[in-house]
Amino acid sequence: MGENVLYYGDNLYILREHISDESVDLIYLDPPFNSNQSYNILFREENGAASAAQVRAFEDTWHWNAASEEALDDMMRNAPPHLVELMNGLLSFLGRNQFTAYLVMMAPRLLELHRVLKSTGSIYLHCDPTASHYLKIMMDQIFDLGNFRNEITWKRTTAHSNVGKRYGVITDSILFYTKTSSYTWNQQYSPYSEEYIKKTYRYIEQGTGRRYSSRDLTASMQRASSGQLYEWKGVRPPSSRCWSYAKEQMEKLEAESRIIYSKTGYPRLKVYLDEMPGIPLQNIWLDMSALSSWSSERLGYPTQKPEALLERIIKTSSNEKDVILDPFCGCGTTIAVAQRLKRKWTGIDITHLAIAIMKNRLDDTFGNKISYEVVGEPTDLSGASALAQQDRYQFQWWALSLVKARPVDQKKKGADRGIDGVKYINITPGLKKPKVMKTVVQVKSGHVSVKDIREFKTVIDNAKAEMGAFITLNHPTNPMVKEALTAGYYKPPDIIGAVQCPKVQILTIEELLDGKKLQYPIHEDMTFKKAERAEEEQGKQDELF
Ligand SMILES: C[S@@+](CC[C@H](N)C(=O)[O-])C[C@H]1O[C@@H](n2cnc3c(N)ncnc32)[C@H](O)[C@@H]1O
Repeated sequence: MGENVLYYGDNLYILREHISDESVDLIYLDPPFNSNQSYNILFREENGAASAAQVRAFEDTWHWNAASEEALDDMMRNAPPHLVELMNGLLSFLGRNQFTAYLVMMAPRLLELHRVLKSTGSIYLHCDPTASHYLKIMMDQIFDLGNFRNEITWKRTTAHSNVGKRYGVITDSILFYTKTSSYTWNQQYSPYSEEYIKKTYRYIEQGTGRRYSSRDLTASMQRASSGQLYEWKGVRPPSSRCWSYAKEQMEKLEAESRIIYSKTGYPRLKVYLDEMPGIPLQNIWLDMSALSSWSSERLGYPTQKPEALLERIIKTSSNEKDVILDPFCGCGTTIAVAQRLKRKWTGIDITHLAIAIMKNRLDDTFGNKISYEVVGEPTDLSGASALAQQDRYQFQWWALSLVKARPVDQKKKGADRGIDGVKYINITPGLKKPKVMKTVVQVKSGHVSVKDIREFKTVIDNAKAEMGAFITLNHPTNPMVKEALTAGYYKPPDIIGAVQCPKVQILTIEELLDGKKLQYPIHEDMTFKKAERAEEEQGKQDELF
């Protein structure tokens, strides 16, 4: 296994088959939880507005069904007795419903995560307030109550106005556990408020302009040594108290002009604001909002978490070169931040769509400065055929990722009929308001004939697209190739350097796996929203504050 790996597949099996015992320093997981809705993925239109085209990426599986019964059976046979007892207890008072379906899905995964975590490691479980209390009981059992460190409340959004007859829900919970009591911890701080600074650091040093406060220089006798009781410049500490420092240290402070004197000659310590780290972070995080629809970080995944949140967790609970694991990776926030902060990482996701988005994010952000491996994607024709047979949508997402096209909702009727994906190309690179050309993509995993190309030509025209890409698992027939050529060529007018390209291009999966590319009149791809280029860490201000 390489240093940085992206796995496609169900995390339970990936963890069991690929991740060794005690090999991970930090785990962050953000499993999907949504009781009623399907998990949809929204993309942005080329003009930046939220797309009407939603892709069903993840059918809501949190209902008690045959898979839950199977997972429960597996748990009863293989999980440690205390967890089996807990699950039985939960089932007896909650019954078989969406919560218990969710919990039997989570239990074996949390057990695996406990196994792969190093003894110095930490785990952060991001959850929704409707499930956090059940998950906490489960985590207490698996990680041990004594290793519970915090329940972090993250304010993810600003106030809602349409809350109905209850208070607005604007927070998520993040459960923080460690594997043992000896774990990696890099204290993080938040800045002092203006009000606190004005009240506490109210003096300004003449000449330097530095803010400072004056602090008591005496200590309780109980905690002091005998060397701390002496006369300092004719002043003795009050009864039952001594000086905070021994005489030599006081002399050193005096030499450094760190001691100031009251009108009565009483010494006090000078404490500069610019030497104080800030307030140690507490368990309520208010300073990082979820990504707004106009955020430059946003990649179109509705559950995408802000990089600042992951940055805080990763900085606090890991060091450079440590291994970070996100088993529910989504569009890859954890791995992108881990890479930026010079950690090693492993990401897992069950949809090819997520894998495709993550590959784009990493490549767009780090360019050729990153090396990583993708495990679980088809690498040859037989693998591609197997995927097509197993799941048509997954095959489609994967095939679309080969040409970096974004998927279109299959269930949407009307204008999008016959279109599986779209790709936008900026034909005026460098201009602030780009002109884009549209390419529609159709993916076929079964038998194909000339009729398909004829219909596809109509689809391209109806979609007002400039070009069309027809991706097929099977080889096209000669009549298909001829029919495609009858569509002619496309070349954007008035663009210097643009070349003309076939309007309908047929590409086989085999050709794409061999590295063949779609032909474009000019190259600047704006299909997926580009991830921001990683800024050099050095010299950069801490983003959190
Ligand atoms: C809430 S999203 C994670 C979002 C992520 N934190 C981000 O910032 O983009 C949950 C992800 O878990 C994936 N997922 C759900 N069940 C899974 C499983 N059993 N194995 C691996 N991934 C899974 C879904 O495809 C989805 O992308």
